[in-house]
Amino acid sequence: MRVFATRALPGRALEHLAGEVRLEVWPGAGTPPRAELLRRAAKLDGLLCTLSDGVDADCIAAAPSLRAISSCSVGTDHVDLAAASARGIPVGHTPGVLAETTADLAFALLMAAARRLVEADRFVREGAWRDWQPGLLLGRDVHGATLGVIGLGAVGQAVARRATGFGMKVLGWSRSGRRIGGIEIVELADLLRRSDFVSLHVALAPETRGLIGRAELGLLRPGAVLVNTARGGLVDEAALAESLAGGRLAAAALDVFEREPLPKDDPLLAAPNLVLAPHIGSASVATRVRMAELSVQNLLAGLRGEPLPHCANPEFAKFAKPLRR
Ligand code: DGY
Repeated sequence: MRVFATRALPGRALEHLAGEVRLEVWPGAGTPPRAELLRRAAKLDGLLCTLSDGVDADCIAAAPSLRAISSCSVGTDHVDLAAASARGIPVGHTPGVLAETTADLAFALLMAAARRLVEADRFVREGAWRDWQPGLLLGRDVHGATLGVIGLGAVGQAVARRATGFGMKVLGWSRSGRRIGGIEIVELADLLRRSDFVSLHVALAPETRGLIGRAELGLLRPGAVLVNTARGGLVDEAALAESLAGGRLAAAALDVFEREPLPKDDPLLAAPNLVLAPHIGSASVATRVRMAELSVQNLLAGLRGEPLPHCANPEFAKFAKPLRR
C-alpha cells in the first residue's frame, strides 16, 4: 500500500504507519505544491493530509487507486466529500480529541481581546510605560458579561462551560436548534443583539459561509467583541475590518482566516483592536499527538476496508466504529 503524508506530524504516529505501509512524507517545510500533490496522487492507495491541502474533485480523480483519505483535522471543508463518496472512498477526520484545547484558545483570545493584552505587551516592550495611570489600557470586563456561542457542538459547549466559570450569562444558537443545559437558546439575530462577546464554533459548509456578514455585524452591540476559532469563511472579513476601523466593535480575535496564511497586504492587518493567531486552536502537544494518532488509525482502517473510527462522509459515517482508547 502506498501512502503519502503531506506533513510530518507530532508524536510517533507516522512511525507506526511506516511499519504498515510504504509511506512517503513530504519533506518540505510547508504544504506540498498542488502539482506535486496531483503527481503523487496517481500512484496512491492512501492520503494523509491536513487542512492546508485542497483535496478537491480533480485531486481525487488524479488518484485512480485511492482507497482512503485521512485528514489530521476535525474540519473537512478542504476535502470534496461528495467526490470521495462517489468513488467509495472514506474520509477520516479527528473529532473528539481537540474540543477542549480549541476552547482553551477561544477563551484565551476572548480574554486577550477584552483586556488588550497584545497592546499591553507591546506597550511595555516599547518602553512606553512611565507610571501607573488610572486610564491606561482600559478594557472590558469578562466576568458577568453575556457570551453568545454560535454553534453548540463539542467546542461551543466547552467554551460555554468556561464562560460559566467566569460568571457569564451564555446565549447559544445552532443550526440544528440543539438545547444544552445552562445555555439560553435564542435566534441568531437575538444572540447578536444581546451578547457582549460572540464566539464562533460552526463548521464551514455552503450553508454557513458568510454567516457573519455586514448585516449581522451591524446587529452587534456597540463595543462587542467577536472571536473566531472555527473557519475564516464564516465571517465577511472586509466588513469586519470596517467595523473595527469605525469603532463599532470594541475588538475581535481571529485564529482562522478566509486565506491562510494571511497575505501581507490583507486589510485585517491594518484593523485596530484585532488580536491575531495563526490557526493554532488545537496546538497543544498532547492534542496534536492525539490528532496524529487518530488520523493514522482512520487511514489504516480505510486501507483495510474496515469502518473508520471517525468518518466525515455521511454515506460512510454510519459504519464508523467507536474509538478504542
Ligand atoms: C481542525 O482540526 O479543523 C482545526 O481547525 C485545526 O485543529
